[in-house]
Amino acid sequence: MSESLPERAEVQYYFGAGPAQLPKPVILQLSKDIVNYENQGIGIGEISHRSKTAQSIIDNTRENILKLLTNNGKYELDQLRRDYEVFFLQGGGTTGFSSIPLNLNSLKGKGGYLISGSWSLKSFQEAKRLGSDVVTLYNDKTENNAFKGCYKGDYSKLLEQEDDLKYVYICENETVNGIEYDATIKDLAKACRDKNVELIADLSSDVFSREIDIYDYGVIMAGAQKNIGIAGLTLYIAKKNLLDQIKANGVDSNLPIAFDWNLQNDNNSCYNTIPMVPLHTLNLVFQRLLANGGIKEQETINIEKADKLYSVLDKYSTESTEVEEKQRIVKFTVDKQFRSKMNVVFNLITLELENQFAKEAEANGFLAVKGHRSVGGIRVSLYNAVKLEAVEDLIKFFENFVNKL
Ligand SMILES: Cc1ncc(COP(=O)(O)O)c(C=O)c1O
Repeated sequence: MSESLPERAEVQYYFGAGPAQLPKPVILQLSKDIVNYENQGIGIGEISHRSKTAQSIIDNTRENILKLLTNNGKYELDQLRRDYEVFFLQGGGTTGFSSIPLNLNSLKGKGGYLISGSWSLKSFQEAKRLGSDVVTLYNDKTENNAFKGCYKGDYSKLLEQEDDLKYVYICENETVNGIEYDATIKDLAKACRDKNVELIADLSSDVFSREIDIYDYGVIMAGAQKNIGIAGLTLYIAKKNLLDQIKANGVDSNLPIAFDWNLQNDNNSCYNTIPMVPLHTLNLVFQRLLANGGIKEQETINIEKADKLYSVLDKYSTESTEVEEKQRIVKFTVDKQFRSKMNVVFNLITLELENQFAKEAEANGFLAVKGHRSVGGIRVSLYNAVKLEAVEDLIKFFENFVNKL
């Protein structure tokens, strides 16, 4: 075993969908803190989660999340502290979506699911399997088992389908299918508000990649291992009065204690052992985001990365008139309106070409560009830590690949 840290390049060409790369300064600081945290002679993963040190990290992480959610001053920190609770549970996205119907079981009414890809579909199936009263309000799945996007109609009409909804569930960014809600999500939030229905969202693969208005949501949950950290932890941001309502009604007897939002929140996320290495990682990521100007700054970079990549893919798409026919090799299934800025998913015209591209990309150091095993194709994930330079170099590589055809 080595006694020193390995070298690592400034720009990584790693486009994996999760776990994903972290910013180099974060990973370096984390490595040091795993060995010896703040000169205490012991590492962050070795201390008690109930120690003063751990408690102050949990408090500070929560505070940094709320600061990020102020959207650079749009909301007062005190107002957010009053209205929302932030807590963490062991787990990831799956424990997150299983915990949702169980915690909301004590409220009267149905959960309405909008299915725009494989994660929202799984969440619905899980809620049903757990015996919760849930319905699909919209399902985008086509006969070919593909998904094209999100709902395009009038959300208030859509919600009228059911008169006893208590929540509407969405997955904001479908990691496998490359589908992300666009600005029309505000219409959904308004329709929910008008009907007094809580909007509950899985943000596992787009959390803090773009500014949101937290007041649009009843609960947000996100597994940590894509945009904000490493696997092992789920972040929850929940409206205080929703948690109070659940508490007043009493918890469902089927709710495992480790999933109990109020129990965890009342115990500063330490009812059971919170994994401190993932939690501290989150905080390092949040400190960096805040130091770099907050979510808006990051969003601007993310838009530039995605725009640059999609515009080159459009240039070489089967629909293009810009290039000669043999170079029209890119096929999109996702509707332009709902293209994800986090997971750019596309096909090449033949399976052979896709395999060749993935193989050559890998050989040239552009790692983890293969699509999810369930849908195939190519997937390039552009989470916060992926630098613009990495995307520009991938674009050059792609153009060279096409020019050789
Ligand atoms: C949007 C979304 N939700 C849920 C999950 C499930 O997360 P986990 O593997 O942490 O349970 C994933 C995993 O990729 C995801 O992308």
